[in-house]
Amino acid sequence: MRPHRYADYMFENPPLLQIAADRMAAPLFAPGRFARLMDIAELAEGERVLDFGCGGGLGARVIAKAIGPNGRLTCVDVSSLWMGLCRKRLRRFANVEFYLGDLRKLPVPDADYDLVLVHRVLGFIQAGNRQSVVDCLAQKLSSGGRLLICENTEPRIGFEAHRIRKLAENAGLVETRAALEGAKFTALFVKS
Ligand SMILES: C[S@@+](CC[C@H](N)C(=O)[O-])C[C@H]1O[C@@H](n2cnc3c(N)ncnc32)[C@H](O)[C@@H]1O
Repeated sequence: MRPHRYADYMFENPPLLQIAADRMAAPLFAPGRFARLMDIAELAEGERVLDFGCGGGLGARVIAKAIGPNGRLTCVDVSSLWMGLCRKRLRRFANVEFYLGDLRKLPVPDADYDLVLVHRVLGFIQAGNRQSVVDCLAQKLSSGGRLLICENTEPRIGFEAHRIRKLAENAGLVETRAALEGAKFTALFVKS
């Protein structure tokens, strides 16, 4: 997968200020934001979750706490820097595994997840690659599994809600709820 034109800058070699924000400011707001998303996804104790584009692990930590020791969390990211921070942030959780690289080529099992979370990731993937990535995410879901997508729809850093819907629909998923708040589009899809 060819990296997004901002990929080197933002993900593999982000400015120190961005790392500082992830370490100091974001932890103040992220838990509440991810807890609300997990309410929408109706995340339950013991579930198997894939956090696609986990970044520094702020959402992953909320998920790991919510699923408890009987659940399982898989974190996937293409950036070794963010993955390193994620590993550090989740070091106390035994039931978390980490995969670095392109999900489509990783040995992450198919039909094995109750929930896949995609939070601010699709917008950073080249338009021509998005469908095969979303197809792959759908493949990871077990029957009845949910895909929660939350993306920015501003053209500079995101893309329109109807295109996000189309990606999920083409992957065979059914939308069960959706909301557009400002530029933020959040939608839950289910695999039948
Ligand atoms: C804006 S950050 C969001 C991180 C996290 N989801 C959050 O909301 O805190 C985007 C993340 O997506 C990752 N990413 C970009 N393209 C990806 C891809 N094709 N596969 C997996 N992760 C990707 C980046 O490395 C980065 O960590």
